[in-house]
Amino acid sequence: MSASPILTEQPAAPLHAAFATQLIAWQRRHGRHDLPWQNTRDPYRIWLSEIMLQQTQVSTVIPYYAKFLARFPDVAALAGAPIDEVMALWAGLGYYSRARNLHRCAQAVVERHGGAFPASPEQLAELPGIGRSTAAAIASFAFGARATILDGNVKRVLARVFGIEGFPGEKRVENAMWALAERVMPGAQASDDDVSAYTQGLMDLGATLCVRGKPDCVRCPFAVDCVAQATGRQRELPAARPKKTVPTRRTWMLVLRDGACVLLERRPPSGIWGGLWSLPEASDEASLAQRAHAFGAAQGLERLAPMTHTFTHFKLDIEPRCADLDRAQQAACAHVRDDETAWVPLAQLDDYGVPAPVRKLLDALKGSLV
Ligand code: ADE
Repeated sequence: MSASPILTEQPAAPLHAAFATQLIAWQRRHGRHDLPWQNTRDPYRIWLSEIMLQQTQVSTVIPYYAKFLARFPDVAALAGAPIDEVMALWAGLGYYSRARNLHRCAQAVVERHGGAFPASPEQLAELPGIGRSTAAAIASFAFGARATILDGNVKRVLARVFGIEGFPGEKRVENAMWALAERVMPGAQASDDDVSAYTQGLMDLGATLCVRGKPDCVRCPFAVDCVAQATGRQRELPAARPKKTVPTRRTWMLVLRDGACVLLERRPPSGIWGGLWSLPEASDEASLAQRAHAFGAAQGLERLAPMTHTFTHFKLDIEPRCADLDRAQQAACAHVRDDETAWVPLAQLDDYGVPAPVRKLLDALKGSLV
């Protein structure tokens, strides 16, 4: 199977070169500047905020950030605290592995780096709880490193502005996004402040304008170039997680009537509906006709409305066919009356274990049987 292209429409090439400059200018005028973890280059504070913000929104993090700083003013204080105290202070923020990693990371910074956070994204990413994107955030905010973040918000911005197709959770798409994010980040001439503004700009654009539900394209600095805006595909980009496709099986079922009775057959003990009483089945129409004939059905199968039943791992399309027993043939077909088959009055279906969709089919037929 060939992979579908990741880039279909592409913005004019100059956007790639101008993206960082435009974003930095926008962030300085319209971005957020007064969050408690901004206006500092202290890697401890920046790291603490980035870990808390990994899966939690800004308004929830603010009081926790203040509590942590008051109790643990620096990385050594946190490293020396009992884990129980860290967990107690974290209680309510959720995703508790973050708190355990926070503590382990503080200890690693003290033990491996003498209490000073390393400046390179690569070294930061070796510490507990710090992935590639968080490492880039810390390195760019604290040390002015040219390294790009790529969290969920940034993926949304890039997918829309540059028209990236595919589900970003898919490795192939994510790799393409990392490559694009690196291509459009500020150039080597960027100052530390430019780099911080750029990283914050990516976060701010994704959190305030290029939001999931109703993006505010009118105020977006990239409205002119944005592929999603130009093609009206803001809702479709980034692509949603693909629905798991379940295989479909098809079966033909025989409703063989004899007055108010139908013929049921006991299913094999294993497999779907193991041991239940169900309608005789075949894997195609002709085989079902043969079986109907062997049971003593009159000629001709009547087509009933098909139905679909969904199991966890597959869908079953049921093609029901109906026939009446030919009484002239009944005696010749006496051999079908064994332990594995039964003529069951429709009024007595409750006495038999019948699979739900088969029961539904038979209940719908009740009115038409005499
Ligand atoms: N989400 C992740 N990091 C953030 C930050 N530094 N400011 C606001 N939101 C964020």
